[in-house]
Parts: sequence; structure tokens; C-alpha cells
Amino acid sequence: MPFLCQMLAAAFVQLFIVSNSWILAKNINFHNVRLPVDPTPFPSSFKCFTCDNVVDNYNCNRWAEDKWCPQNTEYCLTVHHFTSHGRSTSVTKKCATREECRFVGCRHHRETSHTECISCCEGMICNVDIPTNHTNAVFAVVHARRTSGSSRQAASILLLVSVTAIFVL
Ligand SMILES: *[C@@H]1O[C@H](CO)[C@@H](O)[C@H](O)[C@H]1NC(C)=O
Repeated sequence: MPFLCQMLAAAFVQLFIVSNSWILAKNINFHNVRLPVDPTPFPSSFKCFTCDNVVDNYNCNRWAEDKWCPQNTEYCLTVHHFTSHGRSTSVTKKCATREECRFVGCRHHRETSHTECISCCEGMICNVDIPTNHTNAVFAVVHARRTSGSSRQAASILLLVSVTAIFVL
């Protein structure tokens, strides 16, 4: 029954794809976000994680639209509010001008015992992490290039192709 065999093979491959993507969804590494394949709107265009006053960094990065920044902006800005115990209360990320990035650093508000840290960075989707102290609440103007993500993806496609071949043969 070659037809049944093929059906079975197809089912296995689908199961593999589903379980694979489920595993990927369970541990998202936002540092390995794929570079966008859609055409760039203008030379030297870039994207930032963009979210407005969400509860923490995970929920910002998980649901943020990484949209192309307007041409008058050059950097990605992150504003992080947290309690004295270090628990995040608000994360805001957006594209920013050099002017807006003048305010990087941490400020403690004594009356609410909250701390606000602001950081800026330069480069494609560079605002993955949130600033938590004076070490990381800085204006980072180094170009961060990500290449590790694409090689891992190639390896997983190769694995999928070989598994498909084994089932089909
Ligand atoms: C700043 O925060 C980072 C990440 O939370 C931590 O690894 C580092 O040790 C902190 N630095 C200082 C000076 O507290």
C-alpha cells in the first residue's frame, strides 16, 4: 500500500514541523531574531522593537511590531521602569532621534521608590534587552551584526529535508 505509506510519511513530517515550531515557540531567543527579508524603504533604514508601556521585556519583545523607523530617526530607545525589588512595571521601546537619546541613564524617584532607566542603541533591532543599571543604561553606538541565527536556521532546514527524504524513500 504505497499510498498509505506516503500518507503516514506526510503525517510524520507534519508532526515533526509542528513539534519543532512548538519547541522554538517555547524558548524564544530574541537575540537571534531573523533579519527582515522585506525590501528596505530607504538606504541605511533599520527597525526597532516597538511597544508602548507594557508590563515587562518579555511581553514587549514577544508582541512588539519591529517596524521600519522613520527617516528622521537614527537609534532605538528603551525606557524601563522597575520597583526597588527589580520587578519591571513598564517597558517602552521605539525609534528615536539623537536628541531623545540625550536622556540615557537611570534616575531613582524617591517618592514612588521606582527607578527609570533609559538606553539607546544603534543598529537593526538592537533594543532587545532592557536597561537595569548605569552599566547598561547607556547610548551604545556600535553596530551589532547578527549572523548566528541564519546558520542555525540552515541547520534545521537541512535536518527537515533529510528526515523528509528518509520517510519518502
Ligand atoms: C547591571 O545589570 C546587569 C544585567 O542585569 C548585570 O549583569 C550587571 O552586573 C549590573 N551591573 C552593576 C554595576 O550592577
